[in-house]
Amino acid sequence: VEAKYGEKSSRDLYDVNAFALSYFREHLPGPALDYLKRRGLSDETIAAFELGYAPEGWDGLLKLARTRGVSERQLLEAGLLIENPENGRVYDRFRGRVMFPIRDHLGRLVGFGGRVLDDSKPKYLNTPETEAFKKGELLYGLDKARTRLKAESELVVVEGYMDVITMHQHGFTGAVASLGTALTAEHATLLERLGVSKIRLMFDSDEAGRKATLTGLDQVIGTRFEVSAHRIAGGKDAADVLMEFGGDSIKAALKDGVTEVHVRYQNAAAKFNSNTPEGKRAILMELLPRMMINESLDFTNAPAT
Ligand code: UTP
Ligand code: MN
Ligand code: MN
Ligand code: MN
Ligand code: MN
Repeated sequence: VEAKYGEKSSRDLYDVNAFALSYFREHLPGPALDYLKRRGLSDETIAAFELGYAPEGWDGLLKLARTRGVSERQLLEAGLLIENPENGRVYDRFRGRVMFPIRDHLGRLVGFGGRVLDDSKPKYLNTPETEAFKKGELLYGLDKARTRLKAESELVVVEGYMDVITMHQHGFTGAVASLGTALTAEHATLLERLGVSKIRLMFDSDEAGRKATLTGLDQVIGTRFEVSAHRIAGGKDAADVLMEFGGDSIKAALKDGVTEVHVRYQNAAAKFNSNTPEGKRAILMELLPRMMINESLDFTNAPAT
């Protein structure tokens, strides 16, 4: 099969992804489009984010590829096919899912996220790590958000695809999402390079979101970002509260940010009893190491106790 399409093998991952994207977008009308409408997205938003649908069936993309001179190997390298290790058969990775194309900060099409239309698991399936798709370096929506960075160099980091898209639809165009992971040091480096000065963390209001906030804060220790954390009230995440209460809910959350120290103190104080000296000490021990790095405090000349 490879030899047959060998002359096309220089076609790179972005082109293969673009081929798949046009296939997904063609198949949007139907249940997937209805689903996105039910989640409050407008036609303009759906078009701007190039949302699509990967139809049910095992080989829709594969079959079309064969007629277009796109090889199995290229699809495999792009993570669009899965190979069964037992019999070597290949089949479409994304089936029966709403498709979210993922672009890097330069707008290059590096991969996809795909969501089921119901409650089945896994909820989202993403492109595996490829030459172009490096989760820890990607922020969904950054290609769009960075176009306004000069005017107002601050970003709002939310958790998921739908959060970013719904935020943009409501005019919060500085929204980006780490792809189901916390913010990484690579993210911080990239954002620093792009001239971002303020980062607002607005993760889901559940335990996972709280953890992601703390981990995210660890990644920006020692950077020059101004960071704040924002609690979403009245719902689980940005998309949900926007859907239910509109933009005012997010405006209020953005106004109500707390500082990094505040988040850390709250977290530590919830774990220990701040009324006892031992509890106070435990809180202090938890906070001090990070603060020493952050404030570049030098204790080397502190008097011995
Ligand atoms: P959430 O579980 O908060 O999902 O995961 P969500 O974004 O609110 O999803 P909706 O609103 O039900 O559509 C946040 C992000 O984590 C990643 C996705 O990027 C998701 O948007 N994730 C989550 C995965 O990659 N796989 C999963 O199975 C779940
Ligand atoms: Mn078809
Ligand atoms: Mn979540
Ligand atoms: Mn959600
Ligand atoms: Mn969520």
